[in-house]
Amino acid sequence: IFDDGRQNSKGLNLNIASEAKPFLGAINQFNHTQWSAAPLVDGKRLQGDCITITITSPFNTQLSVGKVIFSDDKAIESALDSASKSFHRWSRTPVEVRANALNKLAHLLEENRCELIALCTREAGKSIQDGIDEVREAVDFCRYYALQATKMMAKPQLLNGPTGELNELFLQGRGIFICISPWNFPLAIFLGQITAALAAGNTVIAKPAEQTSLIGYRAVELAHQAGIPVDVLQFLPGTGATVGAAITSDERIGGVCFTGSTQTAKRINITLANREGPIIPLIAETGGQNAMVVDSTSQPEQVINDVISSAFTSAGQRCSALRVLYLQEDIAERVIEVMKGAMDELSIGDPSLIKTDVGPVIDATAQANLSAHIDHITQTGQLLKSITLPDGTEHGHFVSPTAVEVESIKVLSKEHFGPILHVIRYPAAKLNQIIDDINSTGFGLTLGIHSRNESHALNLADRVNVGNVYINRNQIGAVVGVQPFGGQGLSGTGPKAGGPHYLTRFVTEKTRTNNI
Ligand code: NAD
Ligand code: ALA
Repeated sequence: IFDDGRQNSKGLNLNIASEAKPFLGAINQFNHTQWSAAPLVDGKRLQGDCITITITSPFNTQLSVGKVIFSDDKAIESALDSASKSFHRWSRTPVEVRANALNKLAHLLEENRCELIALCTREAGKSIQDGIDEVREAVDFCRYYALQATKMMAKPQLLNGPTGELNELFLQGRGIFICISPWNFPLAIFLGQITAALAAGNTVIAKPAEQTSLIGYRAVELAHQAGIPVDVLQFLPGTGATVGAAITSDERIGGVCFTGSTQTAKRINITLANREGPIIPLIAETGGQNAMVVDSTSQPEQVINDVISSAFTSAGQRCSALRVLYLQEDIAERVIEVMKGAMDELSIGDPSLIKTDVGPVIDATAQANLSAHIDHITQTGQLLKSITLPDGTEHGHFVSPTAVEVESIKVLSKEHFGPILHVIRYPAAKLNQIIDDINSTGFGLTLGIHSRNESHALNLADRVNVGNVYINRNQIGAVVGVQPFGGQGLSGTGPKAGGPHYLTRFVTEKTRTNNI
């Protein structure tokens, strides 16, 4: 329980059979469910002339998970029109009422967590553990933003002024917030964006990643059930190039909250600059080229655990994941040898099995791009380890967990979003060069440091330009309200999700000077 009385959601210990068995049984009930999604405008499923897509499992493309109807122009126009009309009412709804609906949503997410975890596993190829964490993070976002909004917005801030004059500062929603999310956190980031925007008094049009519309649809159904009015939260599935581009270019919108690649964030920025209408904020949380620096005072066993979880769990598909491991020369050989052994222990395969550490990557395009990068980088670098994929993975989008030694971080011209670790040995005298090299990538998301020399670790933490630094632990899995998450430079605009300043970007400020 935190100082503010809030409690983050509870986990589940999968190593305790009496807890794990009934839980898995409940998830398995959804093994054959076929879900369906469509544009939800004012709570009504729209079909129109839209195209229908069949979603298959990244684990086995022969298994269908459901169908999605993408949004057409009519659905887009209706959603914009209705979200625009409902803004005044929702922004004047007392913040306590908005917060209550979000707290109810947290409760409904917990009640439906087995279905949501099944969806995460089947539609997004997430492991059971990742599914559990995903639901927990979504729940935490609901409660955290409900509380933050209430603290910030329940009463205007009283300001100084001459006697007889009342000066007050009000925070209000900005209008329609467009929320555009990625597939790798199809529930947590999808709902994190939406709940922040709603708590602050905005109406929302949510566009999920095209790969994970089924999860998004179910989350929006639960939000409506929790009391978020159907005209206040609209859902438009579809591709970025069509639906995403259309909603971000509309002059009626009041802000955009985006998480995804740096390239797409830049594209949206151009769209916003070129459209008619007011100048509006873009909150963009994007990619990383995340490093971990391990010096010779560190404890190799702990380093290995943290490297393996940071680089390979979630199949390396976290923006926070470790991409470049710097090892001080004196300990490099030892760490590499033990790391290779630990990679052999990774269980790769069906994400719905508890034992699975590494599941599939999201789709065929990701698989092809990552495989091409492995082919390329192993020609110039030295392959340290590549895990042979086990039987049973041939029908899915699997990529071998791979470690390769390279000369410099400069050989990486972009983020490679999968289970590929680049290793660089460094002499102690070159530490300044490493700091410059990491900073010169322009990305600034996470940094891992392993050292028992505190002044050395704190110096590194200070000089590398990133949003989240982790010393002597893994560098993934930021917890809402504990490690507010987000980067700088090419990694994002801030403010940090799950942090005390996030909602400030979703509101507009008004001062009222009253001499009545
Ligand atoms: P992406 O940029 O391809 O897509 C993200 C979203 O943007 C999708 O919903 C997509 O449909 C939409 N989109 C694409 N083109 C658009 C356009 N022109 N206009 C409007 N919307 C458009 O990213 P992705 O592949 O879904 O996600 C992976 C990326 O997300 C990685 O780079 C990862 O690092 C990043 N990410 C960052 C964070 C963070 O908090 N910093 C968290 C998760 C993922
Ligand atoms: N918040 C996610 C993490 O820290 C991206 O891994």
